[in-house]
Amino acid sequence: MKLTFEEAVRRIENAVSFEDLGADRAYREWAKLVHPDAVGGRQGEAATAAFARLARLFAERGGTELRTPQAVYRVGALVASGDLADLSAVDGNRALLKVPRSPGDNDLMANEAEALRRLWRDGGPYAPRLLESFLHEDAARVRRRVNVLERLNGFVPVSRIRRAVDARDAAWMWRRLLIGLGWAHRAGVVHGAVVEEHVLIHPQKHAVALVDWCYSGPRPVAVVPGATYPPEVRRDKEASPATDIYMATALMTRLIGNRLPKAMKRFADGCLLDAPRMRPQDAWTLLEELDELLGKLYGPRTFRPFRIDEGN
Ligand SMILES: Nc1ncnc2c1ncn2[C@@H]1O[C@H](COP(=O)(O)OP(=O)(O)OP(=O)(O)O)[C@@H](O)[C@H]1O
Ligand SMILES: [Mg+2]
Repeated sequence: MKLTFEEAVRRIENAVSFEDLGADRAYREWAKLVHPDAVGGRQGEAATAAFARLARLFAERGGTELRTPQAVYRVGALVASGDLADLSAVDGNRALLKVPRSPGDNDLMANEAEALRRLWRDGGPYAPRLLESFLHEDAARVRRRVNVLERLNGFVPVSRIRRAVDARDAAWMWRRLLIGLGWAHRAGVVHGAVVEEHVLIHPQKHAVALVDWCYSGPRPVAVVPGATYPPEVRRDKEASPATDIYMATALMTRLIGNRLPKAMKRFADGCLLDAPRMRPQDAWTLLEELDELLGKLYGPRTFRPFRIDEGN
């Protein structure tokens, strides 16, 4: 049966594994159907996306299957290796399977699952959804808590940015980071580890999301090695909304580096005071102050395209 371009794209979009595409066509035939070089103009974008998805499904074919009470996951390539866990693609690009390397960190994984459940109780787009959290027992009878997270496609961690960022580009990241934190704080959740690896941005959409909620809560039991923490965490193992505000501010000033305007430095200094009670406590109120400052410095807001490439 001959497939049209649209049909092929739809089949690939809906396939969870390469096997779903059926045995009647080889990879080469699918690739020919949706190859970006073979289609013109308006179809180019759809072709590029379908072609990339096809390649990923093919690379993951025959991968291991993981059965849980809720689903059967097809475990694909390793996508990231964080401080404590390995994250693998599951079900194409839909989700990530986060598995702690040591079962000693199961409590942190449970902490993350609990935080995400609380965050999503009243909805919000600033953190990935938790699809499932379960205990997995491997062949050696080692039990690990595994979190299945919605995969944030098109997002990259700000740790990927290598050069000092213009304050006007950092502005949208800063604003959305404060909105995300305000949302978490309203749900009663402190992130506790606002660092480069955990703040994801979507450069085209100017979206921001926070990942890795393992360290969340008022009494952090672990810290990210090498990260800059405020005194209350280092000294008293305590965290509050003011802790997130400190870490977010420190992160943004690192990002802007030597391009930080004086007035912005003064604004940041107030958020970096040693005593958490002396800092702003409310991310949304702070956002209003940031907006006022941005208005004074740069005038009315405009959309500035931002790209992460070799250059920055
Ligand atoms: N939902 C997600 N979508 C896309 N990328 C993600 C997502 N979650 C995490 N990542 C990427 O994977 C990296 C590692 O994730 P994470 O920080 O959660 O793991 P970890 O540090 O090993 O976890 P932990 O220390 O909490 O056990 C992140 O820096 C980020 O780039
Ligand atoms: Mg991490």
